Amino acid sequence: MAKIAIFYGSTSGVTQGVATKIHELIGEEVCDIYSMEEDFMSVDEMLEYDYLLFGCSTWGSGEVQNDWRDPLFDMEMDKPDFTGKTVALFGAGDYVTHGEQFVSALGTLYDHFKKLGATLVGEFPTDGYTYEYSFAVRDSKFVGLPIDEVNESDKTDERIASWLEILKQYFPIASLETA
Ligand SMILES: Cc1cc2nc3c(=O)[nH]c(=O)nc-3n(C[C@H](O)[C@H](O)[C@H](O)COP(=O)(O)O)c2cc1C
Repeated sequence: MAKIAIFYGSTSGVTQGVATKIHELIGEEVCDIYSMEEDFMSVDEMLEYDYLLFGCSTWGSGEVQNDWRDPLFDMEMDKPDFTGKTVALFGAGDYVTHGEQFVSALGTLYDHFKKLGATLVGEFPTDGYTYEYSFAVRDSKFVGLPIDEVNESDKTDERIASWLEILKQYFPIASLETA
């Protein structure tokens, strides 16, 4: 079984596109991919992996994408143990129309999995991003990779590549496939 898994929630397909791209770059033989809507059955699936990439776009006003809501609620009740799991976050947002809560869902996931014992990695510099506020910014860095396909689709590939370079320190992804 692959050591790494991506679990993503995506309403209009943007985070799904990013997840698919990351999956291709890491390599299908070492990384599994689950849609929170179609494939996710229980948190036990997540716990089978040591390295987890969670993708979640932001909706409402700073809220997590719909398919993450029930799983997060259930985990808050059941408190599964993520100790020893390495977790990195990514997700889509829109800094122009929703710059007051830009990619804030990543901050919610960060707090959630930290509380469950996971080791969160893959912070990303805020340089080059414009936003009023983000719950995903801690100590002047994003807690994961923000993607804005609405306004800055030209930066997506470069941002993914830079983020995966950062992740190499923490994830067994030494040799990335070429895009
Ligand atoms: C009603 C609505 C609310 C949104 N709220 C936010 C928000 O609070 N923060 C943000 O960064 N983006 C927000 N967005 C933008 C989406 O996150 C963005 O369109 C993203 O690309 C959707 O990704 P997905 O297709 O993976 O779900 C919102 C979009 C809509 C239509």
